[in-house]
Amino acid sequence: MIEKERGFQRGEEVVVEITGVTDRGLGRAEIEALVGPQKEHAVYEIFVRKAIPGDTVRVCFEHVRRRRCTGYYVELIEASPLRIEPRCPHFGQRHISGQGCGGCTYQTMRYRHQLAIKERRIKDHFKEAGLDTGLVLPLKAMEEPWHYRNKMEFSFGDTADREFALGMHPTGYSYEIVNLDTCLLPSPFAADFVPKLRQWAVERELRPFLKSSREGFLRMLTIREGQRTGERMVELCTTASETATMNSREVPSKEIAEDFRRFALHTAEELGESITTIYWTEKYVKKGETTQWIEHHLDGNEVLSEELHLPGERVLRFDIHPRAFFQPNTMGAEVLYREVIERAGLTKAGDRQVILDLYCGTGTIGMCVAPFAKQVFGIEMQRDAVENARQNAEFNGIDNIEFFAGNVGDVLESEEFCKRCGEVDLVIVDPPRSGLQRDAIGELLEMGAPRIVYVSCNPSTLADNLADLCEGGYDLEVVQPIDLFPQTYHVECVAVLQL
Ligand SMILES: C[S@@+](CC[C@H](N)C(=O)[O-])C[C@H]1O[C@@H](n2cnc3c(N)ncnc32)[C@H](O)[C@@H]1O
Repeated sequence: MIEKERGFQRGEEVVVEITGVTDRGLGRAEIEALVGPQKEHAVYEIFVRKAIPGDTVRVCFEHVRRRRCTGYYVELIEASPLRIEPRCPHFGQRHISGQGCGGCTYQTMRYRHQLAIKERRIKDHFKEAGLDTGLVLPLKAMEEPWHYRNKMEFSFGDTADREFALGMHPTGYSYEIVNLDTCLLPSPFAADFVPKLRQWAVERELRPFLKSSREGFLRMLTIREGQRTGERMVELCTTASETATMNSREVPSKEIAEDFRRFALHTAEELGESITTIYWTEKYVKKGETTQWIEHHLDGNEVLSEELHLPGERVLRFDIHPRAFFQPNTMGAEVLYREVIERAGLTKAGDRQVILDLYCGTGTIGMCVAPFAKQVFGIEMQRDAVENARQNAEFNGIDNIEFFAGNVGDVLESEEFCKRCGEVDLVIVDPPRSGLQRDAIGELLEMGAPRIVYVSCNPSTLADNLADLCEGGYDLEVVQPIDLFPQTYHVECVAVLQL
């Protein structure tokens, strides 16, 4: 226990031993202190970026809110026995120039230790929610924990030293960018393309969009790749403006876009690869108006095609538009969807069940389970995604799936939906990180489907929602965690509930 005249302040340094990790992958420690003249007993929670359990570090605080202090370490006093050298040169501390990329969290741990940490976090949440941790199965690992992402978004901006940058934000810093010369999460092509595009922009004196001044032209580079099809989409996103500065001259923006198109094709050829789709997208942002993405198709196919390979040699094909959501790890998505099919007990094609796919996005889960169903109903808030889902279902020749656009809770209680859907045999939910809303939980309990399969990307909200559903009469059968995103703190779970 330490004594302090007053609470911790921003900029203050202190030595701590890291004993755990948070949901966002920050190292966690606790300090007990007697504070002020009254010697009031206080327990401070300390969160340290890029520190892992077993590390003893000197942390410098960047944010202090009451008894929660967050910072980065300025000295690694004793390294955790779990520590290994990160493979990527950009992984590290934000205050070390060129390092501190916010993309990965756990590169300083062997993959098996990353899995153990994620599994423990899930169990901690289940324990807190009063659930049986024995129902959580060992985390399924990815066969290939590197180069697994099919989509990467890189931002233009400034480095901390005010230099032109194209890369990723350091964790917790939305105004600055770490220049990336490589990245081990997407394909080598994507990693090689980034520094070449930066050089293209610097040579032409193009200006990056800066969040601080809200001025500048270049915003984002998105690269999407069909890991099953070999197709590749490259999208340059800029500010919406008729003209922009290039080589100290004001030129029409579409001239710059055309220059980008030629550059992208030439670079791909130089790298011995190809690009099948090129877009230039203007992002129109105005206070009080809805943000718009104005897409200009510059070259190749209008969409990226990707496939999902499922049990029974089924192949689903998806047309992915620049704004459409698709699981960012194709091989991981296949593992996840196979798990959903198995855990839902869908073994025989033509099981004649009525299945709901709630929070369905572009309808991938619904389409995977469609052969086992009499009818599938998907519900999704985003109208574009619903439109995309309908097209994908048609494209794959699936005619027993119907999509409804709207908030899950509202659609479930609507007369139109209830009449159309009737008795439900199985509900699959895949909500965003915030989990199921109260109204959706209420509707699910009222509906009383015999089986619910809950796909979650956030163990904390999953545990809370499962506890509510169990209180409402369901029994939790099993939870299968799957590591879709190695090197990061993210983890997916498939939980099965039975009435
Ligand atoms: C984790 S994604 C699921 C995507 C999809 N199941 C898949 O595997 O591709 C969650 C989806 O829920 C949608 N969503 C979020 N809140 C919603 C709500 N209240 N009602 C309906 N959909 C919602 C989001 O737009 C997003 O597409």
